[in-house]
Amino acid sequence: MQESSRDPALADSPPRPAGSLTQPLTAGAFVRNAWYMAGWVDQFRQSPLTHRTLLDEPIVIYRTDAGVWVALEDRCAHRFAPLSRGQLIDGCRVQCPYHGLQYDATGACVHNPHGSQRIPSRARVRAWPVLERHKALWVWMGDESPSPAQVPDFSVLDEAPELHVTPSDGILIRANYQLVIDNLLDLSHTSFVHEGLLGNQGMTASAIECDTQGTEVTVNRHASAVPPPGMFAPMWPGHPALVDSFTHMRWMAPSTLRLMTGICEPGADPASGTGYHGLHMLTPATAGTTHYFFTAVRFGVRTPDPNFNSDMQTRIARLRRFAFEEQDAPVIESQQAVLDAANRTLDPVLLEVDAGPARYKRVLEQMIAREAATR
Ligand code: FES
Ligand SMILES: [Fe+2]
Repeated sequence: MQESSRDPALADSPPRPAGSLTQPLTAGAFVRNAWYMAGWVDQFRQSPLTHRTLLDEPIVIYRTDAGVWVALEDRCAHRFAPLSRGQLIDGCRVQCPYHGLQYDATGACVHNPHGSQRIPSRARVRAWPVLERHKALWVWMGDESPSPAQVPDFSVLDEAPELHVTPSDGILIRANYQLVIDNLLDLSHTSFVHEGLLGNQGMTASAIECDTQGTEVTVNRHASAVPPPGMFAPMWPGHPALVDSFTHMRWMAPSTLRLMTGICEPGADPASGTGYHGLHMLTPATAGTTHYFFTAVRFGVRTPDPNFNSDMQTRIARLRRFAFEEQDAPVIESQQAVLDAANRTLDPVLLEVDAGPARYKRVLEQMIAREAATR
């Protein structure tokens, strides 16, 4: 069931805990039993051992010669040196750079080069489940048994022709992941932060609809008979002067989002238009930093011309990176700085446009609380 922007998540809230909308309530609290994207697979092929900080955990990721991906605690059990600065031995064991202990893919120390070579029973590091899917590596950060079926569905990425997909990309944002989700589920900011590129101020009157289904929240906006936003106009040579502009954003707990956005003939079905699926994978690095991975897959491509589609691929990739890195990130990071500097608890004013963020935050809080209760 869809509801308008007069959303119960706002109407019946309150008084909500101070700062609950834009100030991460539980900074440093994460849903742990979930697959988190560690990066694009290609990034892990550039060196034998790669460090990542995910959910405050230092992790070293590598692929064995047998083709198995491994994610180990990047902190030697002896004196805590980072294993990622060591070496991969025989294509399967990690050797610590400091005193040479070697660990296997389960995290067990299997070689001590010193003295009697006895291996203390506590000489082991943690290992996390890791798998490859949708051109990315996903790490299961919780204690419960993982199911590969729980990896967020980005299969649209697997099937698309190469020229219809922008290169795999990502940035690190110096802000809590919830501020980034707030931004992505808040469609209204495009009219200001991305004016002329992804939206314009003529779109602010259009209704935003929200829906919650289990652990997913969707936020949709449809603007009728507006000038095509700058991102989309070139995708449709000969487009009408006025078009319908649509944005359908889906949050999938805990921190990935899938967008379908584009333009179509006024009054037409959005599926008949042209645009792209925007894929947004957020992984908390720490309470104050977020890995933000993204790419886009076009739909309703108007011509098979490879030159046109190659140009469009480059244009979309550049514009999206510009929008996220030069427009969104500065606002979000300065917002985090303001929150960090506040000398009192902040209580944000809520607008109708906050319905989506309010809804997802409620689901996320429940998930975090449920995990905390079982620990
Ligand atoms: S710190 Fe790793 S072997 Fe000493
Ligand atoms: Fe944005």
